Amino acid sequence: MKTTELLECLKIKQVIGHLPNQIKSIHHDSRNVQNKSLFVCISGFTVDGHDYYRDALKKGARVIVANRSLTIDLEKNALIIVPDTIKALAKLANTFYHFPSNKLNIFGVTGTNGKTTVTSLIHDMLRKLNQKTAVAGTNGMLINKHYFQTANTTCDVLTNQQLLHRAYQEGVDHVIMEVSSQGLSQGRLSGINFDVAVFTNLSQDHLDYHHTMENYGYAKGILFAQLGNDMTSPKYAVLNCDDPWWKTYNYFTSAEAITYSIYTDAIFRATNINYHTDTTEFTLQSPEGKHLIQSNLLGEFNVYNTLAALASLYVKGYSITTLVPLLRGMSTIKGRMERINVEAPVTIYIDYAHTPDAIEKCVHAVRSSKNSEQQLIMVVGTGGERDKEKRPLMGEKASQADTVILTINDPRNEDSNKILTDMEKGMLHNNYSLIPDRKQAIKQAIQLSKPGDIIVIAGKGRENYQIIGDKKYPHSDASLAIEQVKITYPD
Ligand SMILES: Nc1ncnc2c1ncn2[C@@H]1O[C@H](COP(=O)(O)OP(=O)(O)O)[C@@H](O)[C@H]1O
Ligand SMILES: [Mg+2]
Repeated sequence: MKTTELLECLKIKQVIGHLPNQIKSIHHDSRNVQNKSLFVCISGFTVDGHDYYRDALKKGARVIVANRSLTIDLEKNALIIVPDTIKALAKLANTFYHFPSNKLNIFGVTGTNGKTTVTSLIHDMLRKLNQKTAVAGTNGMLINKHYFQTANTTCDVLTNQQLLHRAYQEGVDHVIMEVSSQGLSQGRLSGINFDVAVFTNLSQDHLDYHHTMENYGYAKGILFAQLGNDMTSPKYAVLNCDDPWWKTYNYFTSAEAITYSIYTDAIFRATNINYHTDTTEFTLQSPEGKHLIQSNLLGEFNVYNTLAALASLYVKGYSITTLVPLLRGMSTIKGRMERINVEAPVTIYIDYAHTPDAIEKCVHAVRSSKNSEQQLIMVVGTGGERDKEKRPLMGEKASQADTVILTINDPRNEDSNKILTDMEKGMLHNNYSLIPDRKQAIKQAIQLSKPGDIIVIAGKGRENYQIIGDKKYPHSDASLAIEQVKITYPD
C-alpha cells in the first residue's frame, strides 16, 4: 500500500526521516517482521515493543511507529511518533486491510461463561443453513474449514484484522467471535465493526487481572460501547436480563436491546423447562410466538446459551421457525457437559467449568435431571498462577455435589497442595477429598461410584494437556475416565 495513503488515518503524528513509497506489511512482533514493512512498538503486558525496534529494522522494517523519540538511521528509515501506539495500530491495521469488518457480518460474544458455547451454536446453525462462516475462539479462528491458530481467546488487533481480511477474501459472510474482557481492555478488538454484541453473564473470574468486579464488568462493556451510535446500519445488543449487568450494557449502547431470560419478562424467554440426562426441552416465547425447543445441550446454563444464539440469529433475519429444527440435531459442544460414551452403569460428563458460577451451574444441571437415588460425584480443579480469590468459592459451589474430589488443573509453578487447600477453605460439608494428581482423582471418582451414579469431571473439557511447571504434558480427562471405567465396571 502507498505509505502516504496508509498514514492518512493518523491525524496527530510527527514524521521524522525518509518515508518509503510503499509499505508491504505491518507488524508489532519483531520476530515476524518482513522487508519493506512498518513496525509498531506496543507496550504490552509482559514486553515493550520499544525494546525491539532495532531487531525490526534489521529484519527490513522501514517505518517505526513509537510513542517517543528513538535512535534510528533517518536517512534510510522513518520514525513516526504518535501519542498512543495501540490506537495507532488499530487504525493502521484497519486501513491496511481495507476495513474488513465493514464488509462482514460480525457477532461478538462476551461474558464470564458460555462464550464458546454461544459462538459454536450460532456458527453451527449458520453452517446448517449453508452460510459461509468463520469462528474465532479460545485457540484461533476457523475460516470455512481452515484453522488458524492464535495465542489467546481474543487475539491482538493486527492478527484480528489479518484474519478478518482473510475471511473476507475467502467469501465468508458471518464471523462469530469470542470476546474476552482482557482482549477488550487491551484494545485488541478496537476498530472491529460488530453488528451484534451478545452478553451471556458476569460472575467472579480474572480478578488477578481486573482487580475488582466493577473493572471486570466495565471491560466487557467496551464491546457494547463499541457498537457505537451510528444508526445507519442496524446493530443489536443481545442481553441476558437475568444478570443485573445487562442494564449497564444497555446504557452503554444506542443499539437496540434484544433481551432474553428464564426468570423475567423478555423478548426471548424460556419456560416449562424439562431436564433429562441427554436432552433438554423448553417452550420458547419469541416475537414469532411459542415454539417447543428440543436440544441435546444439558442444563439451565445451556438454555441461556440457546436463547442467546437464537436471538442473535433472529435479529439478522433468520426466522425462529427455520432455526428451531436445526437445534434438534445439534451435537453437544465438545468438552462442555459432554457425555462420555462408556459401556457402564454410570453416567460421565466432562465439562469446562472453571469459575464458581460455572461449577454451580454444572451441579444444578445434574441435580435437575437426576433422581434422589443417584449420587453426583464431582472432580473439580483450578489452575495455578491465576485468580486465587475464586478458589474457595469454587470449593463452596462444588460442596453441593454429594461427593467432591478437589484436584489440580494446570498447576504451573504453584504448589499443588496450596491450590487444593485454597479451594478446601470454601467447602461447606465434609464430603470431599484432596487428590493433587488429576489422574488419581479421576480414578478415585469412578472407584467411588455405584451403578446409577453421575460423575462430572470439571475444569478441562477436551483440553489435551496439563501444564506442570513450564511444561505441557499430554493429558485427557475423557481417556482417563474411559480407562478407569473399564477396570471398575469390566462387564
Ligand atoms: N451461560 C452459562 N452460564 C454459566 N455457566 C456456563 C454457561 N455456559 C457454559 N457454562 C459453564 O462454563 C463452562 C465453559 O463454557 P464455555 O462455553 O466454554 O464458556 P467460555 O468460552 O466463556 O469459557 C461450561 O463447561 C459450563 O460449565
Ligand atoms: Mg471459551
